[in-house]
Amino acid sequence: MSAPKKLFIKTYGCQMNVYDSERMAEALGGNGYVETKTPEDADMILLNTCHIREKAAEKVYSELGRMKPLKDINPNLKIGIAGCVAQAEGEEIMRRAPVVDLVVGPQSYHRLPAMDDAVQTGAKALDTDFPDDDKFETLKARSKAKRGPTAFLTVQEGCDKFCAFCVVPYTRGAEVSRPADRIIREAQELVESGVREITLLGQNVNAYHGHDGGLAGLIWELDKVDGLERIRFTTSHPNDMDDALIDAHGTCEKLMPYLHLPVQSGSNRILKAMNRKHTAEGYLRLIERIRAARPDLLLSGDFIVGFPGETDQDFEDTMQLVRDVHYGQAYSFKYSTRPGTPAAEKPQLPEDVMNDRLQRLQGLLREQQIATQASMVGRDVKVLFEKAGREAGQMIGKSEYLHAVFAEAPADVIGTVRRVRIIDDATNSLKGELLSQ
Ligand code: SAH
Ligand code: SF4
Ligand code: F3S
Repeated sequence: MSAPKKLFIKTYGCQMNVYDSERMAEALGGNGYVETKTPEDADMILLNTCHIREKAAEKVYSELGRMKPLKDINPNLKIGIAGCVAQAEGEEIMRRAPVVDLVVGPQSYHRLPAMDDAVQTGAKALDTDFPDDDKFETLKARSKAKRGPTAFLTVQEGCDKFCAFCVVPYTRGAEVSRPADRIIREAQELVESGVREITLLGQNVNAYHGHDGGLAGLIWELDKVDGLERIRFTTSHPNDMDDALIDAHGTCEKLMPYLHLPVQSGSNRILKAMNRKHTAEGYLRLIERIRAARPDLLLSGDFIVGFPGETDQDFEDTMQLVRDVHYGQAYSFKYSTRPGTPAAEKPQLPEDVMNDRLQRLQGLLREQQIATQASMVGRDVKVLFEKAGREAGQMIGKSEYLHAVFAEAPADVIGTVRRVRIIDDATNSLKGELLSQ
């Protein structure tokens, strides 16, 4: 038998790309590929790209420049572009960069095995269709290989919201939900491989409609999966937080008290210009209801500063919303013009204004994050241990609130949920002491 061919995948962007990379590796496994961690010994390199902010294509070209000499060492090496840049600009990349053999969009990667066959004959392969056939049906069952205790599981893809700044509706297509029974089966496969915590993924995960009861209905089905101990989901849109989902946060023990609920801005004028279809007050009322259901919930968010037309007052409204909510952690970005989106037509704000605002917002969010971490000291949390730490005898895992926690513990805690008392807070993690159960 010939030696297995080696596949190197570099993943950019969101968690859905992480999930897609796993599935692409599994699909190419059928063609005899095993994964490698070094591009130097690869027979196939896939760049799984992200298009969300500026310079996405430039980053791909410079990565291709670095990869090109590897073709001199291994003349059989094939290089492919996957993900959202492939979808948006794949044809152009293939034209401009002869080093690229293959371009595959996020909705067509189940066709990778056939595309690999084609490129092995020296041909080029490009597929950025939004095909009618369901890629998840074509992909085989999840690999039976032993895995770590946490996994992502895509349940919904695409977006119909068309926020004025965002490329996702164009790169990922319309909202599609996977049927609940297939998701349950995949969750069971993951649990059999050692997974204890599943994060359900979707660009608008709470718009999930593959179950009569929506995302909450799916969560309750997953609640019944033996061996699955924790459920999370991301990313949610405020307008799709229905009563059943809010209620599940208070009543479903497996559903973790952490919610990533982007609002983008605290100014109603800007929210309207962004086509978010909700107000700042509506968002605050929603947060109140979620916190009533689950008072200890840790909230996370996304913010954009410097959206076209954003005034000082609009920005102050965002700062005020952040003070009103008090986030456990959050992401914030400078507005980035994306070709083809409605906001790209509008006059842009000066760079220094955006930089100032971003700095102020990040300062406030950092204060809130530090305060939230400090408030954990002295509390007992439950940690799902994931791996050994850097120091001998130290194990690392995540609390229900998604804080990284490290503690002295025997290696057999990995893959189990243990009670831990938090005794100190470090910059990006918490220090704990293992409690007897
Ligand atoms: N579907 C999710 C996340 C989409 S992308 C949602 O609706 O929240 C993740 C984040 O990237 C967004 O929440 C937004 O804050 C940021 N983002 C998207 N487009 C952007 C742009 N053009 N410039 C800057 N940030 C952007
Ligand atoms: Fe983009 Fe808005 Fe859709 Fe989120 S909801 S993916 S920000 S268009
Ligand atoms: Fe990026 Fe596409 Fe995800 S643009 S954020 S990889 S959906």
